[in-house]
Parts: sequence; C-alpha cells; structure tokens
Amino acid sequence: MTTMAGCDVPKVSIRNIGDYVDKTVCLRGWLYNKRSSGKLHFLQVRDGTDIIQCVMFKGDFPEEVFKEADQLPQESSIQITGNVRKDERSPLGFEISVTGLDVISKAQEYPITPKEHGTAFLMDHRHLWLRSSRQHAVMRVRAQIIKAIRDYFDGNGFTLIDAPIFTPNACEGTTNLFETEYFDEKAYLTQSGQLYMEAAAAAFGKAYCFGPTFRAEKSKTRRHLTEFWMVEPEVAFNNLDDNMDLAEDFVVYIVQQVLANCQRELAILERDISKLENIKKPFPRITYEEALKILEEKGTEEQRVPWGEDLGGDEETVISMQFDRPVLIHRYPAECKAFYMKNDPQNPKLSLNVDMIAPEGYGEIIGGGQREDDLDILLEKIKAHDLPLEAFDWYLDLRKYGSFEHSGFGLGIERTVSWLCGLHHVRETIPFPRLMGRLKP
Ligand code: 4AD
Ligand code: MG
Repeated sequence: MTTMAGCDVPKVSIRNIGDYVDKTVCLRGWLYNKRSSGKLHFLQVRDGTDIIQCVMFKGDFPEEVFKEADQLPQESSIQITGNVRKDERSPLGFEISVTGLDVISKAQEYPITPKEHGTAFLMDHRHLWLRSSRQHAVMRVRAQIIKAIRDYFDGNGFTLIDAPIFTPNACEGTTNLFETEYFDEKAYLTQSGQLYMEAAAAAFGKAYCFGPTFRAEKSKTRRHLTEFWMVEPEVAFNNLDDNMDLAEDFVVYIVQQVLANCQRELAILERDISKLENIKKPFPRITYEEALKILEEKGTEEQRVPWGEDLGGDEETVISMQFDRPVLIHRYPAECKAFYMKNDPQNPKLSLNVDMIAPEGYGEIIGGGQREDDLDILLEKIKAHDLPLEAFDWYLDLRKYGSFEHSGFGLGIERTVSWLCGLHHVRETIPFPRLMGRLKP
C-alpha cells in the first residue's frame, strides 16, 4: 500500500464518472470520510470536483491492506482503482467497487472533524476548511457568479479595462483609506475603479473593471471586509434610469446563471431556491424619501432615519423585507453621497444615485449613479468635500475634452455570494477573508 502504482486504466474526475459506468477507472484524491461494517469499508473520496463513495470488500484484499485502510486518517491522499457502478441511493448516483488502493501520502490527524467548531477556529484553518463540502459549494457559486458577470458584460458590448490598485486619491471618502508608501510619495489602495472607468467610458463607450478593492473598515459587521471584489461598469450617455435598467438586467442574469448551473451547490447549502426563482424584472424602484416612509411605518424607533442621513445595514434590512426581490432606492440627499454624484436638476438637494438592496436582509449589493459632468460644479464639489484638487486634475480633464452624460455602478461580489448562498456573514464568501484583525491565513 505504500508505493503508488501507475494507472493503466482511464484516470477520471468524479464529475465525469457517469461516463464510465461498468468500466475500471483510476481516481486520485483525498479521503473525506469513512465508515466500516466489518466486511466492508465505505470510503468517501473527494477529488475537488465531487465526492464519491468507494466500497472495499474484505474478501478482495490481503488482510493487512484491508486493516490499514480502516486506520487511514481523514485527508490522506490516495489512489483508487475500481469499477464504476450506478448507485441510485447516493447523491452522486454512482459508486466505485475498489480493486486497488494506494496511499500517496498518509495525513496527520486532521484538525477539522465532523464535530462543531467555532468560527474563529475554522477561520484560523481556512486553508483546510476550504475542503469541506459547504465551503466548497460556496466557492463554486462564487466562481459561477464571476463567470456570469464576465459573460454578461463581454456579451453586451463592454470592454474590460483594468483599474489600478495604487491610487493617488480617494474615491469613496477619506475615512477608510489604506495608505501606503509609494517611493517618496503617499499612495492609497483603491477603494473603487470608478474614476478610471469614467475615462474608459469616454474611450470605449461601455467599459467595466473587475478586481479587488480595499477599505479600512474599522467596524465589525457581517457585511464588511477590508478587501473585497467589485465589478464596475460605466456607460457613456446613460442616465440614471438607463443605469437602473442595466443593474436590474445584470442581476437577473446572474441569478439565472446560478440557478441553472449550481443546483448541487445550492442544495448542499440548503438554500431556499424559491426565493431566488422570484428574482424577475421589474424590480421595485423607490426614492430615498419613500424609503424613509417605510422605515417610519415598519422600523423601530432607532431605525427612523432623519432626512439627510444615509441608510445603515439595519434600515436596509427593514426595507428589503417589504419586497420579494431586490429594491432600487434612488435620489438620496446629496449631502450624504460622494463628490462625483450628479445633483438632480429637479431638486439639487438630491443626488442622481441608486443603491440596490438585496431581499431577505442581505443588504446593499450595488451602489452607483449618474456622474457630475459639469466642470465648474465638479470643481466646487471637490473643494466642498475637502479633497486635494491636484490629485484629480486628470479626472477634471474628462469634463474639459468632450464632457458627456454617463452613469455606472459597482456590485460587491461577496455580498452577492452571501445573498445567493444564503450566508449570514460575508467572511465565508471569499477564499481568504481580510477583516480588521485578520490577515492570516
Ligand atoms: O456603494 P459603494 O461604495 O460604491 C462605489 O464604490 C462606487 N464607486 C461604485 C461605482 O459606482 N462604480 O460600493 C459598491 C458595492 C456596495 O454596494 C457593496 O456591495 C460593496 O461594493 N462593498 C463592500 N463589500 C464588502 N465589504 C465592504 N467593506 C464593502 N464596501 C462596499
Ligand atoms: Mg454604497
């Protein structure tokens, strides 16, 4: 059992095992779990694509081989040779009758056992925890969401334009900037690629960026990471309504792709998919003032927001509970929104922004709006927000050389994964989460 025999039969992935019924195959993977009943060992083997039950019958093996298999620690890497059989009772529909077992590397005692572990322990073992079936399912849904995002924009005339990570200026306010040395100047890790996408929209019409973004979030909430991934489309000659149409169409597409391609994963996560099947156009669109009315009627005393203040996570939850699909809240007070937002010509106290709040209390997944395209107003806003003008000279150029109405938004990947997977906290939605106080593993 110690030497690894080469395989002279097809080397297969569990995902495609159905193509090999009644054939002899070779499989390499890790021992996920096992149980024994005297004459039989039932080995649950995972290879990264799925998990399959492999059955060893005592009579088919020398005694010491059968005994060693019984003592094999969880997560040992192994090579199995055997015959594929249909098995209606297993979730996969197939099992393997083992004819040969080779141990590639015997594992030490595995720290993550089927018993309950605390979140801090699991997070400290994140590099191993990723192997467990729930975490595996979440990462597969995440990968599907990212594929859907790319397919959507690539298929709808957008050009992918990567935004830089070192930036000289703040995009989303100065309170949560990560500062770093950049030779003899200061630089900040990007909070958003938006300003660069505005340049890209002037060059390409429709552009998007997709990458990590950074915010030194000092509050511990279930929706905030310090490093998160955001996709940001920006479209020339789109106004706020066009922007809301795009956001709605885009989110419906993502949900449909996840429903179509992640049935197994959603089942493992015990996600109530009827809630996701509801996600159809049109999404309700309400103004900030209408949102305040909902809070007055349905919220607690503390959730009644005075006009002028931004909505927090708890308020978003109350509002989301009134709808069975995402809700678009537009026209917040300009005073609580970023410097680049265009004011509503009908009422300059309001900004032409929009947030999309996911249903079931998963919070804001999209923030965006129509951008200020008037050079003088933008100059005033940069000054009013106390931002350094010289860092924005290139951004102001976009208003000097053919200014144009334009809009865009940012969708946070982790919040979207959390919603579609039905996870309470965003820390499980990214392979290696970065939170205040957590930089490892
Ligand atoms: O609403 P935000 O701050 O908008 C922007 O950054 C715009 N510049 C985007 C644009 O118009 N191009 O962030 C957008 C989204 C939020 O709705 C949320 O989903 C996510 O990014 N997000 C976070 N996700 C996890 N952790 C954090 N700390 C997040 N901050 C924002
Ligand atoms: Mg926002």
